[in-house]
Amino acid sequence: MKTRNLIFLTAVILSTACGVNDSDPGDFNVIPYPESVEFYGGRFNAAGKEFHLDSSLDREIADAAGKFAEHLTLVTGKTSSVSFDEGKRGFIFCKDSLAQAESYTIQIKRNSVLVSAGDYNGFIWAMQTLGQMFPPEWYSDEKADVAFTLPCGCIKDKPRFGYRGVLIDSGRHFFSVEEIKRCLDIMSIYKENRFHWHLTEDQGWRLEIKKYPRLTEIGSRRAQTQIEFKADSLDGIPHGGYYTQDQIRDVVDYAAKRGITVIPEIDLPGHMQSALASYPSLGCTGGPYQVAQTWGVKKDVLCVGKEETFTFIEDVLTEVLDLFPSEYINIGGDEVPKDRWENCPACQKRIRELGLKDKDGHSAEQYLQNYVTARVQKWLNDRGRKMIGWEEILEGELAEGATVMTWRGTGENVDSRIWNYDVVMSPRGYMYIDRYQSHEQDREPFSIGAYLPVENVYGYEPYDDVPEYGKSRILGVQANLWTEFIGTDEYLEYMLLPRLAALSEVQWCQSSKKEWSRFRKSLDHSVEIYKKLGLTWCEYAWGIVGMGENRQKARTAQELQQYLDERE
Ligand code: ACM
Ligand code: ZN
Repeated sequence: MKTRNLIFLTAVILSTACGVNDSDPGDFNVIPYPESVEFYGGRFNAAGKEFHLDSSLDREIADAAGKFAEHLTLVTGKTSSVSFDEGKRGFIFCKDSLAQAESYTIQIKRNSVLVSAGDYNGFIWAMQTLGQMFPPEWYSDEKADVAFTLPCGCIKDKPRFGYRGVLIDSGRHFFSVEEIKRCLDIMSIYKENRFHWHLTEDQGWRLEIKKYPRLTEIGSRRAQTQIEFKADSLDGIPHGGYYTQDQIRDVVDYAAKRGITVIPEIDLPGHMQSALASYPSLGCTGGPYQVAQTWGVKKDVLCVGKEETFTFIEDVLTEVLDLFPSEYINIGGDEVPKDRWENCPACQKRIRELGLKDKDGHSAEQYLQNYVTARVQKWLNDRGRKMIGWEEILEGELAEGATVMTWRGTGENVDSRIWNYDVVMSPRGYMYIDRYQSHEQDREPFSIGAYLPVENVYGYEPYDDVPEYGKSRILGVQANLWTEFIGTDEYLEYMLLPRLAALSEVQWCQSSKKEWSRFRKSLDHSVEIYKKLGLTWCEYAWGIVGMGENRQKARTAQELQQYLDERE
């Protein structure tokens, strides 16, 4: 580049504060990569620096900054304290009232780090960025013998999507509060801001409901679990567990402090066998039912011919609203076989009373599901909440104002009426992180099948195949971790990582900022974070296949081809 051009370019970059990344100090490994990053040369040493907070900052932001300073004190061994005062040196936190939601700016000079944002999440994400810019020892709980310095420069950042979700299925397998918190920690590091908590399933009801104690007394335990594809592969080992309301409040609060909203899912009217086992009169046949021990879609669903069922749903949701401040409540709605409704006098009576008929390729029973969805949606809307549900709620008729979560396909093969609604994209081909992460499936822990390596998650572009008018309806992207065969914390983390890292760039970065080689290099730094946090991750991208004691060197390309040929 000619010198004159360079001077001109530099002037443009400086005038917009942050420009292109033209002098990367080589250790910038922040995931998701910020919108703009510029380095000036030189470094700021964070050890022992004071924090000066703008007096207009909310208490919550000051508390979060206080925690950051406390942690800095711990890892550096030098005291950093926080005060509401003006300062020119050290960390300076300022409110930027004009900033977009969740955006932030960090300006690092040799003697100061100016952090500005307009809302709580903006400050949280700025601090997560700073954390990833420090050496990985930042993530340990003890004084570390390394320099906590930051390269001078400027970072401007904002998310591509407002909804950046991760689903964990606590229904099929129960995970402790401690483990859920570990997952929230890593989600927050990657700026993922919606925890979709799948709390009810055929195989287990995990949420204490005071008015219906049998849901957890009976519904949270199953006698045994299917452990392979065949339904008779039962392990003979009871499995159970549930979250008390105090634990739920604790998790919701823990998540909120980390910038994450917890969206509960009460999956209805299907996936309810554990509720039916607890209260058999909620089913069409009256049972008896058992908490499911096998996987797959179950025919026993809520009987929606009976008013008692709606009383149950509303009572449960009343307690749910009390526990979860989230704007969105997920009501599931997926995989609802109509077999029982077709043969149930009460459901058929309701169909007649509502005048529902087979129409436009949908059965009267499908319209009966629409009736349930609309009734629950109105109930939620009347209480100031929004309803979100799986793609199937779109079949037949869906009331305005619903939000739909895709799972069966990408933009190309979803029902085009979906673009009349707000949408969260979660296509299974890219976002079902219960799939294998390598081609060497006999050496990975047993999973539901298929193949979704970290690079395929990374490669997802949510606007692909979406009509122009539909793009503005996409609120964001979510990955789902279903847990049929995932019964341990270690395996749960192995499935999440490093795919949550890849997910975060799909959710946060403009597509022009995504770059596999840069991301892949930064994953090495993420792995150092996982080590410090004591997390398990899939190492296939580093040439290791398997988990825990079964870790092995991956096959060479030649061996792999031979193995794949033989497997055909
Ligand atoms: C789903 O996978 N049934 C949402
Ligand atoms: Zn019925």
